[in-house]
Amino acid sequence: MKTQVAIIGAGPSGLLLGALLTKAGIANTIIERQTPDYVLGRIRAGILEQTTVDLLHEAGVGHGVSNEGLVHHHIELIFKGERHPIDVHALTGGKVVTAYGQTEVTRDLMAAREASGSPTVYAASNVAVHDYDSATPRVTYDKDGQSHTLDCEFIAGCDGFHGVCRASVPQGAIKEFERVYPFGWLGVLSDTPPVSPHAILYANSERGFALCSMRSMTRSRYYVQCPMTDKVEDWSDERFWNELKSRLDTDTASRLVTGPSIEKSIAPLRSFVAEPMRFGRMFLAGDAAHIVPPTGAKGLNLAASDVKMLSSALIEFFVEKSQAGIDGYSERALSRIWKAERFSWWLTSLMHRFPDADGFGQKIQEAELEYLVRSRAASTTVAENYVGLPFDFAA
Ligand code: APR
Ligand code: PHB
Repeated sequence: MKTQVAIIGAGPSGLLLGALLTKAGIANTIIERQTPDYVLGRIRAGILEQTTVDLLHEAGVGHGVSNEGLVHHHIELIFKGERHPIDVHALTGGKVVTAYGQTEVTRDLMAAREASGSPTVYAASNVAVHDYDSATPRVTYDKDGQSHTLDCEFIAGCDGFHGVCRASVPQGAIKEFERVYPFGWLGVLSDTPPVSPHAILYANSERGFALCSMRSMTRSRYYVQCPMTDKVEDWSDERFWNELKSRLDTDTASRLVTGPSIEKSIAPLRSFVAEPMRFGRMFLAGDAAHIVPPTGAKGLNLAASDVKMLSSALIEFFVEKSQAGIDGYSERALSRIWKAERFSWWLTSLMHRFPDADGFGQKIQEAELEYLVRSRAASTTVAENYVGLPFDFAA
């Protein structure tokens, strides 16, 4: 088998890259180790920057987000038992974010890919990448008991944090930067109306962080900070709702509609960046190259901005016969990634209770939060990062 670009991984990065390449007439095959149902079963964040929404439209898959996405003009911070809106729309000269789940984005991309006829191999095992430092890279994998080889011109490593592409790079050729936070997020999905349909609520409380989000007007997503030693079985629905309420202001807590959870999981919080993102004819994009803690909802948006840069670079190569885009990809992508890493790390540090924090640390958090909601300059900093920094902000 032969293709121009072999894409490893059918998460949002791989599917979106595939859609943009197919649209530009560049042949691509996606190799994914899981089944489509497994991929769709992973519940992740759901706040899209305008650049991500625009890219979905560019890829021809914008109808879902246009019809069902909920536009947010502001966010709210809760601390010391009170809610403080930050009007990101006014502070950024009219920019907004859209609430639309990663599951929905993935479902739209999968449907569009099937309609386009571009090949996807699901449930592939033993996926391996070879010879990407030569002009003739290859991908090998097993499917239904048979071994296959896919010859290609480029490999796109869109295979997430635990993927094979980054892992195949010799240690001396890659540098990794990491911070692991001493807590996790317990998330619950429920078919209940969201307590705050027009804004995400981020709460800093004595009992730890909490977040109120949504997937639609009838489906909510809530989180509470918890120790990583906790197990999902420790958390009955009742315990979860009581804990969430105890971390919100009284008015919000009294309006919260509870119900049975339809998904409940605990996720670790991590910041991670691998440099560079190009190794000869293999590129990394999305979670394969970087992870952000979910505070600030940058994960999916960063994956989309990598894909925008990588697809432009590959189109430039195949259509305009220019190397410039692929040569600049890693540096350009990393410049934007580090700014989002900074924002996610900062918001995480500001909003959570750290096990080793003392009275001083807590007072500093409170002082910063008060400064943030009272100073237009400080609010603007949050707002412009939340809606996503412009692409030309990068180096
Ligand atoms: N071979 C083939 N596919 C693989 C392999 C492998 N060895 N390893 C992993 N994969 C697949 C996974 O099964 C998954 O479907 O690669 C895909 C990677 O998808 P994601 O982890 O969703 O990563 P990405 O597409 O970059 O999307 C980034 O996911 O974690 C969130 O916050 C993040 O929202 C962001 C988004
Ligand atoms: C979510 O909807 O899952 C979500 C929203 C905002 C965040 C993180 C997660 O910052």
